[in-house]
Amino acid sequence: MKTILVTGGTGTLGRQVTPLLLAAGHRVRVLSRKPHSSDQIEYLVGDALTNEGIDSAMAGAHTVIHLAGGPKGDDEATANVAKAARRAGVQHFVYISVIGANTLPLGYFKSKFGAEKAVRDSGVPWTILRAAQFHELTLTVLQKMAKLPVVPIPGGVRLQPVDSRDVAARLVELALNEPAGLVPDLAGPRVYELKELTRDYLKASRKHRLMMQIRMPGRAGRAYRSGENLSLDGATIGKVSWDAFLAEQIR
Ligand SMILES: NC(=O)c1ccc[n+]([C@@H]2O[C@H](COP(=O)([O-])OP(=O)(O)OC[C@H]3O[C@@H](n4cnc5c(N)ncnc54)[C@H](OP(=O)(O)O)[C@@H]3O)[C@@H](O)[C@H]2O)c1
Repeated sequence: MKTILVTGGTGTLGRQVTPLLLAAGHRVRVLSRKPHSSDQIEYLVGDALTNEGIDSAMAGAHTVIHLAGGPKGDDEATANVAKAARRAGVQHFVYISVIGANTLPLGYFKSKFGAEKAVRDSGVPWTILRAAQFHELTLTVLQKMAKLPVVPIPGGVRLQPVDSRDVAARLVELALNEPAGLVPDLAGPRVYELKELTRDYLKASRKHRLMMQIRMPGRAGRAYRSGENLSLDGATIGKVSWDAFLAEQIR
């Protein structure tokens, strides 16, 4: 039985990871910015960006699965968590990154790449998994876009959305094995044009909206149109498709 600290254990992905660790017989500790209580999980309050509570969360942890993240500052927060892991003698640091971290010229992806570097340079044996966009995020974005009377669709953009349950299962498998460095990407079972994803969502939710193709400008637009956010060769492929996820979510 190992003590495993999951940062971000209250998030979309983290909530899928912790039950798998418990089922495998491990002691699970979760770092959150807010207090929580549970019989099975030890919750500790802390903030990866301010460093508050991070050292005490690490004490006695064998493995850290670092999933805490937000739209900004993952590089800084991850450097804080990785340095604390090093101070505490953690033996395996598992980090969730995103496909395109090394290629896409957008702040979120650059910060994920900076976070990967902080993990690689931490001196703690590590594993990094880059995953595609989760179905949940795809759905949230489409729900927001469908509030508009006309839904703008950046032309030529494709996604390979993946189910967070598949990502959680893969992360737990990696965390319970030896540190493996940068492992193959994890993507969903199919590549979709953004307009297909939107059409599927509108149909499933019985909404009628006009779609209008727009052109995403600049380097980011070129990078998306040339598929730099995709992993077409050698990726591990998740089981749950976007269509299956939508059917579960929208009845
Ligand atoms: N969503 C995607 O499509 C996607 C794709 C690839 C990779 N990822 C990566 O997967 C990870 C998890 O994503 P998610 O969608 O599960 O995120 P989420 O649902 O937004 O949850 C974010 C989690 O991070 C924690 N957190 C945020 N800032 C924190 C801070 N300063 N200190 C401590 N904890 C903090 C939150 O905990 P509290 O609110 O309880 O403090 C929460 O548990 C992120 O690193 C993300 O970049 C996501």
